[in-house]
Amino acid sequence: MIAATTPAVVAHNLSAGKGAQNAFSGVSFQLPPASFTALAGANGSGKTTLFETLLGLVPPRAGSIEVLGQSARKARSHVAYVPQASHLVLDVQFSGREFVAAAYNGRSWGITWRIRAAARAVDRALRQVDAQDLAQRRLADLSGGQRQRLLIAQALVNQPRLIFMDEPLAQLDPSAQDRIVALAARLRNTLGIAVLFSTHDVNTVVDVADQLLYMAGGSGRIGSIDEIVTDDVLSALYGVPMHVVRERDRLFIMRDHGGPACQTKVTRIATSRRQA
Ligand SMILES: Nc1ncnc2c1ncn2[C@@H]1O[C@H](COP(=O)(O)OP(=O)(O)O)[C@@H](O)[C@H]1O
Ligand SMILES: [Mg+2]
Repeated sequence: MIAATTPAVVAHNLSAGKGAQNAFSGVSFQLPPASFTALAGANGSGKTTLFETLLGLVPPRAGSIEVLGQSARKARSHVAYVPQASHLVLDVQFSGREFVAAAYNGRSWGITWRIRAAARAVDRALRQVDAQDLAQRRLADLSGGQRQRLLIAQALVNQPRLIFMDEPLAQLDPSAQDRIVALAARLRNTLGIAVLFSTHDVNTVVDVADQLLYMAGGSGRIGSIDEIVTDDVLSALYGVPMHVVRERDRLFIMRDHGGPACQTKVTRIATSRRQA
């Protein structure tokens, strides 16, 4: 039994990488139970490597990790990973139901029990992502947002306590993005699942994130969005002057080259966003 108060993740001074160099070093953070943590950072900043480290697939080179009060490997049966859809080769002939069922690994006595238990688990997972209507559809015929919901259903089928979502908003249109963010927040709110959700754009999760882990410059910092998305913290992380601009409710993060050039760039981005 894992107590409801056990932190989902406690990472201390973590360093890891898959190549000769560490992808990140000296990263410390906690994910409380039933929390939503946004994981932000540019391409190559180490987000996927961090997920793989927390899953026990990439061994830390320094520091320590506890997942649900145990080692990352031992915690695996309680942890789900939603991989980046663009990196997956999906068998698009699967129906939604077959796709979700493929991940079921519940144990029960006898084949009849197992089939029934699997059917119940798949129904529950489809309901949790509001995708009952996708059960009989072929993956080939679905939109990116619909496939993303089925990927999340697949992750939910074994009732995880902690879920990692790797850039689930990539290549989705804004309304599909909003739906996935709302769904991830609902997993926290109604199922008590701790969510670690990576995204390129902090703005997509501003309304729901409890905290932000920002990866850059081979390191990472955690705090509230207001604490982290500041000129000082981001400049320290990137190792070059950075500038944050708030335009209406949106945050724009950019390299600060100083002087009026920076201002011009901000205006241009803000304008193009409004027109989009
Ligand atoms: N299989 C690999 N072998 C060696 N280096 C890798 C491998 N995968 C990723 N890297 C490197 O690790 C760093 C972090 O990559 P990654 O975790 O994929 O970042 P992100 O998910 O933020 O884009 C990058 O410098 C990347 O080039
Ligand atoms: Mg990645």
